[in-house]
Amino acid sequence: MPVCDDLLSAIETLDPLPITAQRLIGMLGNDNIPLQNVVDVVENDPAVAANILRMANSPLYGGRFKVERLRDAVVRLGTTALLDIAMGGYLRKLSTKAPLYDLGEDELWLHSAVAGLAVQELSREAKNDVPGSAQIAALVHDIGKLIMVRYRKVHASVIIERCQEKGWSFIEAERDLFGCDHAEIGGAVARAWDFPEAIAHAIAHHHDSPLEEGNATLDAVVAANFVTKTIGVGLGAEGLNLRIDQGCLVRLGVDFDAFCRACARTAARLGDLRKAYGLN
Ligand SMILES: [Fe+2]
Ligand SMILES: [Fe+2]
Repeated sequence: MPVCDDLLSAIETLDPLPITAQRLIGMLGNDNIPLQNVVDVVENDPAVAANILRMANSPLYGGRFKVERLRDAVVRLGTTALLDIAMGGYLRKLSTKAPLYDLGEDELWLHSAVAGLAVQELSREAKNDVPGSAQIAALVHDIGKLIMVRYRKVHASVIIERCQEKGWSFIEAERDLFGCDHAEIGGAVARAWDFPEAIAHAIAHHHDSPLEEGNATLDAVVAANFVTKTIGVGLGAEGLNLRIDQGCLVRLGVDFDAFCRACARTAARLGDLRKAYGLN
């Protein structure tokens, strides 16, 4: 389904991404980029470098030892946190109440940040490789919602009513009412920001069911969204009214017990995440 023209032009009104984030996006999505290249980029941005060190020593990521070298801090943080910091709070600054999805301020961002953590926890459990690009894709997987709430001033109850009337999932009602959905728009945002195609594709298709096979980034994002919803973060009006292709877990090599462990560990990190970002 093509993205509506007015929403496509709305993408151009978003502020450009900070330069350090732009430089990192291409690198972090590629598992073969040497760590030193990443360190070189963040070293040149003193504000980002300081925040990386601070966050690496926060309770959310802190290990037994304090890290003082930027290189060690980068390793400890991992892709999602690194990119979030490099984006300079970009995603959080866009935080807004989202009546269309019945999400309060910060809930949309928190849902995305937790999805990033969920990819890390799923990676620990998965028998098959989870690409680094999945963490980035998870962090921005619902970015299309920011555009939707600005340009579709409708309350979530309208969508819920349509779901009840037709027996549809939330995303099906969203498509029917607005001509396109937040996943497709998110994919278009990622392409406008020159994200690697694997990431843009995963964002654009994270509500597909069934999923196309053989795409581990997409599988991991769908599974991470499922973990995040299961532990109740960013449920909003959609709640659990979403279709999940369970094949994503099978392909990742995550069985039921492993999925439960990933949920439990992601939930256990939630308090520290809130603290690290000063949320209640
Ligand atoms: Fe979504
Ligand atoms: Fe989501």
